[in-house]
Amino acid sequence: MLLCTQQSITQEVQIQELTDRNIRLLVKRDDLIHTEVSGNKWRKLKYNLDQCTSLKKEGVLTFGGAFSNHLLATASACHLAGLKSIGFVRGEELNVNSNETLLKCAELGMKLVFVSRDEYLLKEEKEYLEELQLKFPGFYMVPEGGSNYLGMIGCQEILSEIQETPDIIVVAAGTSTTASGICLSLDENQKLWVVPVLKSYSATENIRAILSRTAFETEMIDDYLERVTSLEEYHFGGYAKYDITLLNLIEECFFKYDLPLDPIYTGKAFYGLLNEVKKQDVKDKTILFIHTGGLWGAKKIFQKEKRAIF
Ligand SMILES: Cc1ncc(COP(=O)(O)O)c(C=O)c1O
Repeated sequence: MLLCTQQSITQEVQIQELTDRNIRLLVKRDDLIHTEVSGNKWRKLKYNLDQCTSLKKEGVLTFGGAFSNHLLATASACHLAGLKSIGFVRGEELNVNSNETLLKCAELGMKLVFVSRDEYLLKEEKEYLEELQLKFPGFYMVPEGGSNYLGMIGCQEILSEIQETPDIIVVAAGTSTTASGICLSLDENQKLWVVPVLKSYSATENIRAILSRTAFETEMIDDYLERVTSLEEYHFGGYAKYDITLLNLIEECFFKYDLPLDPIYTGKAFYGLLNEVKKQDVKDKTILFIHTGGLWGAKKIFQKEKRAIF
């Protein structure tokens, strides 16, 4: 294994409003796996990189937006593994110097290919991918966000590293690949609260779609989904949107609980956790929050907002 997921400690966080309810809060700090290949990024890349190596490919080709955590993680993981990397970036108007994420990817040896938004939309089309494969035969292709079967299987391992048996697990969702992996490893009494960071997005529907593609029987999927709740009120207006309430909570978590969160994913999920505990009047439980990383981007946002944290 290239990076050690045991570096991801489980941190106990004592928040008065939770301890008053006899709730024990544990945080699986996957953000600590590695600075760049952090959080769910390494979980999703791990078996994809193994596959790349066993297929004897020279590197990984993948896709991402201008500030993509996944592009950076892929560039860094490939650099560590001695593999080449190519990143197809959404936006032909961009270049290597457009932001620090792209610059860092380039420094880590990633070849960046800037494509129009229209071309980028084709990134999941069979024909387009076949064309790319012909153009780059030595490269193993990983979808945007590392969101494929092997990505999900990597995320299935998260709970196996936890000594305790939490009653409720909380995680943020973009594509729901991480949540799908966790869902597969739940025992029958555990509940999974998934907090989508996009507006009008149902995590349960997306998990259903992901598991259906993986050839699970409908009955089995229904059984898994009985343990999952999609908490759809915590997107703060949609992807990459945030407000002062969210930034204040993140600041409080950083200074009071030594827990760094980001405003795009983990901050929203953490806000959802605190709110749902009150709303559902949860008591006497152990809750596990999965820290999926994203702190690289968070630093930039807090600098922009002129708040001195991180
Ligand atoms: C920091 C962070 N947390 C959570 C997610 C959501 O993961 P998923 O797309 O597997 O739902 C992402 C996106 O990959 C992310 O970058």
